[in-house]
Parts: sequence; structure tokens; C-alpha cells
Amino acid sequence: LFVVFFFFFFIWQKQIRRMGKQRGEKRVTPWLIMAAGTAVIGSLQFGYNTGVINAPQNVSIISCQSFYNETWSSRFSEPISQGTLTALWSLSVAIFSVGGMFGSFSVGIFVNRFGRRNSMLMANVLAFIAALLMGFSKMAASYEMLIIGRFIVGLYSGLSTGFVPMYVEEISPTSLRGALGTLHQLGVVIGILVAQVFGIESILGNATLWPLLLGFTLLPSVLQCVLLPLCPESPRYLLINCNEESKARTILMKLRGTEDVSEDMQEMREESLQMKKEKAVTIPELFRSSVYRQPIFVAIMLHLSQQLSGINAVFYYSTGIFERAGVSQPVYATIGAGVVNTAFTVVSLFVVERMGRRPLHLIGLMGMAVSAVFLTVAMALLLRWMSYVSIAAIFSFVAFFEIGPGPIPWFIVAELFSQGPRPAAIAVAGFCNWSANFLVGMCFQYVEQLCGPFVFIIFTILLLGFFVFTYFKVPETKGRTFDEISAGFRQSADCHGCMPSTDNLGLAPAPPRP
Ligand code: GLC
Repeated sequence: LFVVFFFFFFIWQKQIRRMGKQRGEKRVTPWLIMAAGTAVIGSLQFGYNTGVINAPQNVSIISCQSFYNETWSSRFSEPISQGTLTALWSLSVAIFSVGGMFGSFSVGIFVNRFGRRNSMLMANVLAFIAALLMGFSKMAASYEMLIIGRFIVGLYSGLSTGFVPMYVEEISPTSLRGALGTLHQLGVVIGILVAQVFGIESILGNATLWPLLLGFTLLPSVLQCVLLPLCPESPRYLLINCNEESKARTILMKLRGTEDVSEDMQEMREESLQMKKEKAVTIPELFRSSVYRQPIFVAIMLHLSQQLSGINAVFYYSTGIFERAGVSQPVYATIGAGVVNTAFTVVSLFVVERMGRRPLHLIGLMGMAVSAVFLTVAMALLLRWMSYVSIAAIFSFVAFFEIGPGPIPWFIVAELFSQGPRPAAIAVAGFCNWSANFLVGMCFQYVEQLCGPFVFIIFTILLLGFFVFTYFKVPETKGRTFDEISAGFRQSADCHGCMPSTDNLGLAPAPPRP
């Protein structure tokens, strides 16, 4: 896990430094890299727990299921019925997303009270409890412990999907917010890949070692608890929420590696002044106020486009899809999808600051729609060589996802809102993401039974719908300060009756900042 993680981390930080140098900035410091890198251990945990149990054809899963059977038999002196086993197992899988929904919705309660860094630190208590419950469930002969553990690690992951992008965006310089923001998704995909590899029978995915596979989540948490106290609190939080100007300045100087942080300080002061004019923003207020209604709608749609693209239909069920498409080694094809997933997240990281968010999201959605058509053809025709087409189609589906729809929704919400409404907006968007994730996870198998090989056509239609929405409604945020972005939305709200298109938000192609 650590070797893979640090390998990508190493490549990433080299690239970020190079990008900083190209722009003549001395802004990418070891402090910034360390703070962002430590935060994304939370993303890694989310990815790991997504990948570890959601592949029903995996041997580790079969071992877990036989543990349910044995426990049931020893308690009730009769074997478990297939119906009860399926119900208990579906609950164990799905409860992770339910935990995620609650967790993501609670982000706002923590971040303004305890700060961004301390909230991340505190959340690790949940990861510890979950790891112990899952890791010792076999020893205690209790599948209830495993189910509760999954719920708690879901809570932790839901919180992380809010905390991490928020913290990383708030400590990043404007010109590198996208590249650094992509790191959250990089953590997620590495987590998924590591879980897929660890889940191989000869590693931890077998009848003896599966509790270790689930309990492994303890180690990244220990690492994060050691490193987080060395990381700074978000200077935006200190200045805007706590009015601690001198602390914020000292931290900024460290993060930017320069004494001259007047530009950042000025920008934060402006945002702070703006925030003082507004009341505290609650979740209902986001929908009531004409200023926030449009950006929250954009945020929700972007998160729905991520989940309803069908990506988790691939990650949860790819082994079965490959099997039905006639692939002879489906488990390895699934791991191949994980590798492609990781590689293209790195590609996105390299290009997001050059191309911007909007074009990448659009390219990603269209590429996924086309790949889904190829996949449908391959699954419907089922000719011998069509299995190769289906592998290529799934790989390109995943690759296009990571170009835009994977990383961008996670960090763009923090960009669309200023400090005041940001926590509430991240909570709402995260909740929608997790709910849609739950929906796809629960319904895909049933819809597949109904539609057969044509199931991915549903995703094609949705993807095209999201493409049209993004084209007309999603503004470019690259290179703009948080305050400039919110000002764009305020102008658009003042201009009653204007079509809130990307142009009248004043957000279309930003001039490079000095
Ligand atoms: C995103 C999604 C997550 C998905 C992952 C795949 O992070 O939020 O649900 O499993 O991408 O890479």
C-alpha cells in the first residue's frame, strides 16, 4: 500500500513542483505537499473500503459469506437459507454507503467548530473502531460486528469526502487548486487498486486472512494520526472563521515558502468582509437564497453526473460483467480496470490546470457515453473476439471517467462557494453523491436482469443529459479566486431573468493570474 501510494505521491509532487516553476511561482513547498498528502490518506481509506468488499465474485467475499453461514449454523443449528444470506450480505455491502450519506451530511457540524485539520484528526476514532470491529468479527463469531464496522467506516469515509477536498482547496494557491484537488481522487483510486490487489486469494483474500483484509484500515489511520498534528490548520479557516490574522499569516508564509503573502491575505480579507455581510448559511438557506441556488444546483448535478455515469456498476460488478462478456480471466481484467483508473487520474492531474475543469468534464462524459455504446454492442453480440471489445470498452469507460467526472466534482464544489456557505454546500453535494452511489449499488443487478446486455444504454442516455447540462450551465473556475467565483454567481442572481449561462457568470476563460 505505502509503496504504491508513495510512488504516485512522488510523481505527483514532482509534477506539481514543475508546474509551479513553469508559472514562475515559488509556491509549492514541502509543507504544502506534506499537508495535502497527509489529508488524502482519508481519501485512500474511502477507496480501500469501496474496493475491498464490493466485488461479489471475489474469493475473499466468498470466504466472508461462508463465515456468515458457519456463524448462523453454530447459533441456530441449521444452515442459513440462501435468501437470508443474500439479505445479510447485501446489507453488509450497502450499509457502507448509508454510513457515507450520514457522514457526508454531518461535515458542516465539525469543520466550523473544530477546524478542518482537527476534524480530520477526530474522524480517525471512527476508522479505529471500524477496523477493530471488522478485524475481530471472525474471532468473536459475530457478523453483526462486521456490519456495524462497515457502517462506521462508511461514516468515516463520508466525512473524509467532505473534509479532504475542503482542506486541500483551502491551503492551495489559486493556480494549483485543480491539480492539488485531484489528489483526493488519486487517493481514492489507489485505495481501490490496493484493495483489489490485496483481495487476491494468495495475498489476503482467503478464508484465513480476510479479517486482516478488512482490519487493514487501521494502519493508514495510525499514519494519519501521527502526521496530522504536524500539518497546519487551514489559514482561511483561521482568518475568516476565527479572526486569527497573525496565525493565518504565519501558516501561509510556511505553506507558500515566502514572506510576501500579501496577495493571499488580501484575498482572504475581502472574502471575510463579504462573509460578514451575509448571515450564517444553513442548508435550507442554500436553496432559499437566489445567490446560492444556482451554484448548489450545479454542484448537485456534477455529483450526480459522477455517480449516475455508472462507474460503480463497473467497480462493484465488473468481474461478473467480464465473465458474461466471455473474458477468460475476469478477476485480472478487473484489476486491469483498477490500474487504468489510477493511471488516468494521474493524466487528469497533469492536464487539469492547463485545460480547465469544464472541457475535461465534457470530454469525460462524452467519452464514457461512447464507450458504453461499444460495451453494449460487445455484450449483445457475444461473438468470440467481442470479449476483447468489452475489455477495451470498460477500460476506456474508466479512463474517461478519471479524466473529468471522477476528480472534478469532488473539488469543484469547494471552488463554487465562498467560506460561509462552503461547508453546507459540500455536505449537500456529498450527500447526493453517496445517495446516488447507494442507488446504483442496490439497483444495478436488478436492472441488469431486466435489460440484459442493454443495461449500459441507460447510462449512455444519462451521460448525454449530463453533457448537455455541463455545456450550458457549468462555469469554468480555473484560475479564479473563491471570491471572484462567488461574485460571478452574485451578479448572475442580481440579473433576474438572465439565463445563468457560463458567460453571464463572468467566469468564462480566466486570464492567468500574475
Ligand atoms: C469516485 C467516486 C467513487 C468511485 C470512484 C472510482 O471517487 O466517488 O464512488 O468508486 O470514483 O474511481
